[in-house]
Amino acid sequence: MSSTTTLCGIDFGTSNSTIAIVRGHETTLVPVEDSHTTIPSAIFYPTDGAAVLYGRAATRAYTEREPGRLMRSLKSILGSDLIAERTSVGGQWRTFESILVGFLKHLKANAEAFAGGPIDSVVMGRPVHFVDNNEAVDARAEAKLGDIARAAGFKTVAFQFEPIAAALSFEHTLTRNELVFIADIGGGTADFSVVEVGSDRRAKVDRAGDILANDGVRVGGTNLDMRLSMAAVMPHLGSRAVTVQGHDLPRWPFIDLATWHRIHTLLTPKNMSLMKQILSDCAQPDVFGRYVEVIKQQTGHLLATKVEQAKIDLSNTGSLDVDLSEPVPGLRIKTTVGEFEEAIAEELERLHMTVAATIAASGQKPSAITTVFLTGGTSAVPAVRRVLTEQLPQATVIEGDLFNSVGFGLALEAKRRFRR
Ligand SMILES: Nc1ncnc2c1ncn2[C@@H]1O[C@H](COP(=O)(O)OP(=O)(O)OP(=O)(O)O)[C@@H](O)[C@H]1O
Ligand SMILES: [Mg+2]
Repeated sequence: MSSTTTLCGIDFGTSNSTIAIVRGHETTLVPVEDSHTTIPSAIFYPTDGAAVLYGRAATRAYTEREPGRLMRSLKSILGSDLIAERTSVGGQWRTFESILVGFLKHLKANAEAFAGGPIDSVVMGRPVHFVDNNEAVDARAEAKLGDIARAAGFKTVAFQFEPIAAALSFEHTLTRNELVFIADIGGGTADFSVVEVGSDRRAKVDRAGDILANDGVRVGGTNLDMRLSMAAVMPHLGSRAVTVQGHDLPRWPFIDLATWHRIHTLLTPKNMSLMKQILSDCAQPDVFGRYVEVIKQQTGHLLATKVEQAKIDLSNTGSLDVDLSEPVPGLRIKTTVGEFEEAIAEELERLHMTVAATIAASGQKPSAITTVFLTGGTSAVPAVRRVLTEQLPQATVIEGDLFNSVGFGLALEAKRRFRR
């Protein structure tokens, strides 16, 4: 491929996406939404069939209560059967796959406008595992992402693990050699690699020998949001209420409302009649009534956004008052770091095990690892950082650009792959 062809790397994230291009020898992150190099992976279909909105514009339309449907975290369904299902949006039935094609087309068009010409080749990032312990589903998810990228107009599509892309970004700044543990902990997955990086190694054509281990687990910020919501918020919407006969209410409606990529599945006629039934059986109809109102008013994403913000605020403060009166009139809750960390104990344990397994798979003693490079929004959670620092106490911790390292590294990878 000639050095005048524009190439790109796309980090299609569960929560945020980026696209970076290579023009000549220069690698640049594209300002993909106004001056932002990141765009929330959010899509809004207005009811009246008007133009689809993406990113902040999509979440803004939803927050301003424009009629339509918001979808977020759709990367989470890549390996599942849901991807082929049809959903009614903007007055038409569409597959989730075609909705994602629209999102990638939007990224591509913005990058082409920025580059001033066509972009045919892309390196797409992928998590080390889309799902846990299922290679067949992993392969299917990657193949699906490839189909989506081709349907969006890319002629050549390659893949790279997200943490390896982050390693390339880190290496780009290095003047010496390091044995680095990369931790990319995002919205949907935590991905780890142990890599030999450095100024001496950058120019090597074959880097396979420098990659000592890759592993990952489906734990990310969206799981933490769900746990915090289930612990601190859903009890106020009836998750611990009982029926007049003293039976527990089902848990799934609360879990779905607390899970980003399930929220939009709740408002169906079948569900609504079931919720009415539960409401009439419930011993605390005033409490469960709040749940029903959130579904009816379609304010589930607004509630999830407030929970997410509370989680982010808990990265910097020990306790928090959270005003949930919009969308749940009169509701204010208190939450603490202690409550949050207890709620996410299982996720912390799974992260701990995967970090240990990655170090073991590298064949290196923990003391040989000189640096921990952190990227991904969830690496800002103090309890998540502790999982790494406890196992690699002697390593220097470097916080990369939490939201742009992977996308930039994918473009560096595009240069390596397509310009040999
Ligand atoms: N300061 C913070 N403290 C805690 N969590 C944060 C902070 N900032 C962002 N997050 C969380 O980080 C997550 C998004 O991170 P990021 O954009 O890296 O994910 P992603 O790349 O879209 O996801 P993935 O790579 O898993 O597909 C969200 O869950 C968000 O709530
Ligand atoms: Mg990511």
